[in-house]
Amino acid sequence: MAKASNTKSKPSPQRPRIAIAIMAAGKGTRLKSKHPKVLHEIGGKPILAHVIATAKKVVPAHNVFVIIGHEAERVREAVAGTGVNFVLQAEQRGTGHALMVAREALSGYDQIIVLYGDAPLITAETIRRVSEFHAAQKATMTLLSADLENPCGYGRVIREGARGSVEVQAIVEEKSANTRQKKIHEINSGVYAFDGPALYQNIDRLSTANPHGEYYLTDMAAIFNRARKKVVAIKTPDAGEVLGTNTRAEMMMLDARLRLAKCRELLEQGVTIFYPHTCVIDSDVEVGADTVIEPFVQLLGKTKLGADCRIRSYSVIGNSILGDRVTVRPGTIMEDSRIGAGAVLGPYSHLRPGTEVGEGAHLGNFVETKKIKLGKGSKANHLSYLGDAEIGEGVNIGAGTITCNYDGVNKHKTVIEDNVFIGSDSTLVAPVNIGRGAYIAAASCITENVPADALALGRARQTVKEGWARQEREKRKER
Ligand code: UD1
Ligand code: CA
Repeated sequence: MAKASNTKSKPSPQRPRIAIAIMAAGKGTRLKSKHPKVLHEIGGKPILAHVIATAKKVVPAHNVFVIIGHEAERVREAVAGTGVNFVLQAEQRGTGHALMVAREALSGYDQIIVLYGDAPLITAETIRRVSEFHAAQKATMTLLSADLENPCGYGRVIREGARGSVEVQAIVEEKSANTRQKKIHEINSGVYAFDGPALYQNIDRLSTANPHGEYYLTDMAAIFNRARKKVVAIKTPDAGEVLGTNTRAEMMMLDARLRLAKCRELLEQGVTIFYPHTCVIDSDVEVGADTVIEPFVQLLGKTKLGADCRIRSYSVIGNSILGDRVTVRPGTIMEDSRIGAGAVLGPYSHLRPGTEVGEGAHLGNFVETKKIKLGKGSKANHLSYLGDAEIGEGVNIGAGTITCNYDGVNKHKTVIEDNVFIGSDSTLVAPVNIGRGAYIAAASCITENVPADALALGRARQTVKEGWARQEREKRKER
């Protein structure tokens, strides 16, 4: 499973070969979930995907190794597109064991950085700081620590000698800590840099003689110490970035943090967001300057908004690309769609996958679309269903128009050429073609192609019975 092939590059005296190992084999029992912990989403994507994206900012993907175990195939599939390597830890016997099974994959590296797959807020900047501090200190093991107000549950950092010393004697796990050690607020974040060869020369000294019966990676600190090798700690000024996601509550806290940070980033780029804490904006979303986002808007997945757009409240936009100056009125729902500049959508439009709206076109209230192309300046302003249709430029679709695209077995296409006028309440039974400039009378049922510039009427001729209503009323009076 491990791809050891690209780990055997030539040594270079100047630049150390650095690998990042991401531990993601654990189950996450406390979530009470049937899904693996690292695949739970925060900020709109799996927790592990955040960590991988950050790792790839520090080293190339082929030097990133994700250690998987619980539901390994699902985890691998979910992040396979990132180009990283995977190492299988079939049985999870502790954080130390995770690195034991990665021995072959990691053996060619000078420096091994360890991250957790369930701590997604770690930044590339911090990882680089750990890596550089490790190199500058000529340390064998460097750990990233943090001061937590409530350190309960974490491993505590036991510093060596005088206060202010960078050197560390040991890491003591909560369960093994004595009363004095439990009072220490400096915790082990679980982010480390190791000297690669030293790690694998000594890792077999780990034992399972502890309350969990696991191989604790944290014990490497004491092991190196006894071997008179340098172990140091560097403290992050932002304890928030090392927080893990052991419970749903922690997960939601991190989600909120991530989304607020995303809003802050967009505000800095010139986007206006009213009541940002009511908006749900995924990490990969892009928004152009001077676009205004109203309260309770969701921008999801790989959505990209142009400049000068206005997204009104209660709109949910997923994986869609909007040009500049698009107006999205309240309650519009959109998925996998592309919207041209200056288009106006909603209120309450439902754009399903494959909707392409041309420049300056309009889709109004209660219009549902699926897999259509709507040409430049065309309008469907009220109460329509448009599916599997190719609609040209300057077309007017009257209220209540329906494309009948489905015969119960197959889907068929409707083609409406440029400058067609479709009268209100028309049904267009596909496959059907309406020629350029044609005119469909209101309430027509169109089952055959209409040539260009023609008028098509597809409804019963109106009958008028003079005096009928009056006669009926008089009959009633007589009874
Ligand atoms: C660990 C540290 C602790 C630190 C804390 C920070 C150890 C022994 N303790 O404790 O000092 O303060 O993290 O959050 O390392 N994992 C595997 N394979 C395994 C076991 C774990 O991949 O066999 C992964 C888990 O999926 C998880 C991470 O390693 O992402 C941490 O494991 P976990 O058991 O949660 O360690 P903690 O008890 O939190
Ligand atoms: Ca944990």
